Amino acid sequence: MSAPKKLFIKTYGCQMNVYDSERMAESLGTQGYETTDVAADADMILLNTCHIREKAAEKIYSELGRMKGLKAAKPDLKIGVAGCVAQAEGAEIMKRQPMVDLVVGPQSYHRLPAMEDAVARGEKALDTDFPEDDKFDTLKSRPKAKRGPTAFLTVQEGCDKFCAFCVVPYTRGAEVSRPADRIIREAQELVEAGVREITLLGQNVNAYHGHDGGLAGLIWALDKVDGLERIRFTTSHPNDMDDALIDAHGTCDKLMPYLHLPVQSGSDKILKAMNRKHTRDQYFKLMERIRGARPDLLLSGDFIVGFPGETEEDFEDTMDLVRTVRYGQAYSFKYSTRPGTPAAEREQLDEDVKLERLHRLQALLGEQQREIQDEMIGRTVKVLFEKKGRETGQMIGKSEYLHAVFADTTDVQIGDLRDVRIVKSERNSLGGEIC
Ligand code: 5AD
Ligand code: SF4
Repeated sequence: MSAPKKLFIKTYGCQMNVYDSERMAESLGTQGYETTDVAADADMILLNTCHIREKAAEKIYSELGRMKGLKAAKPDLKIGVAGCVAQAEGAEIMKRQPMVDLVVGPQSYHRLPAMEDAVARGEKALDTDFPEDDKFDTLKSRPKAKRGPTAFLTVQEGCDKFCAFCVVPYTRGAEVSRPADRIIREAQELVEAGVREITLLGQNVNAYHGHDGGLAGLIWALDKVDGLERIRFTTSHPNDMDDALIDAHGTCDKLMPYLHLPVQSGSDKILKAMNRKHTRDQYFKLMERIRGARPDLLLSGDFIVGFPGETEEDFEDTMDLVRTVRYGQAYSFKYSTRPGTPAAEREQLDEDVKLERLHRLQALLGEQQREIQDEMIGRTVKVLFEKKGRETGQMIGKSEYLHAVFADTTDVQIGDLRDVRIVKSERNSLGGEIC
């Protein structure tokens, strides 16, 4: 038997790309590849790209430029570009960087083995279609190898919402949900491999409709999977938080009290300009209902400052919304243009104004994060331990609220769920003692 070929995957962007990279590695495993962490050892390098940040495509072209040395040292090295930049740029990538052998969009990963065959014959392979077939269904079952205690599982892709700033509807395409039975089977396989917590992924995950009961129906079906202890999901749109899903937060023990629910702006005028399709008041009412169902829920969000047309007053509305809602954790960004999206055509704000507002918002969000972390001191949380810490004898895991928690202990194994009393709060983590 010939020695396995080595595959190096560099993953950019969201958790969905992390999941996709895993599935691509498994799929190329059937072609005789095993993964390596060392790019210089690789027979194939795949960049699994993200298009959500500014100048994403240019950054990938620079990365490819830097790989010229590797290709010169190893002329047989195959280079591939996957993910959302591959989808957006398509054949242009091979035109600008002729050393690229393979370009594959996010909906075509199940075609990778055939594409790899073509590349091995010395051909170029390009696929950025939006095929009818489900890429995950035609991929093999997950391998039985032992895994860590947490895993991502993509249940839905794409988005029909068309927020005016966002490329997702263009790069990932229309909303598609995977059938619930396939997801449940995959969850069972993950649990058999040692997984105890699954995070359901989708660009608009709470729009999931592969189960009659929507995402809540899927969560309740997963609740019955023996050995699965924790369920999370991300990312959600406020308008798709239906009653059943809100209710599940209060009644499903396996569903963790953490919700990433981006609002983007606190100004009605900007929400409208962003095409978010809800008002500030509707968001407040929604938050009341969610917190009514699960009072201790930790809320996370995404914010964009400096969207075209945002005045100081609009920005103050965002600050006010944040003060009212209180976020345990949040991501915030300066608006930046994405070619092909409606907001890119509008008159833009000065960079200095955007930056200054971003700093103010981040200071407030940071303060709230610290306060909420400090409030955990003295409380006992359940921690799923995931890995060893940097210090000897230290273990690190996540609480129900997704806080990273570290503890000094000698009797905890990776994969254990243990009660931990929080004794200190640090920048992005909590310290605790095993009960
Ligand atoms: N500019 C700034 N932030 C953006 N996001 C998406 N598109 C843009 C853009 N053009 C942010 C949103 C989204 C998160 C994933 O990235 O806040 O929720
Ligand atoms: Fe993008 Fe999310 Fe809006 Fe869909 S709902 S267009 S993924 S920001």
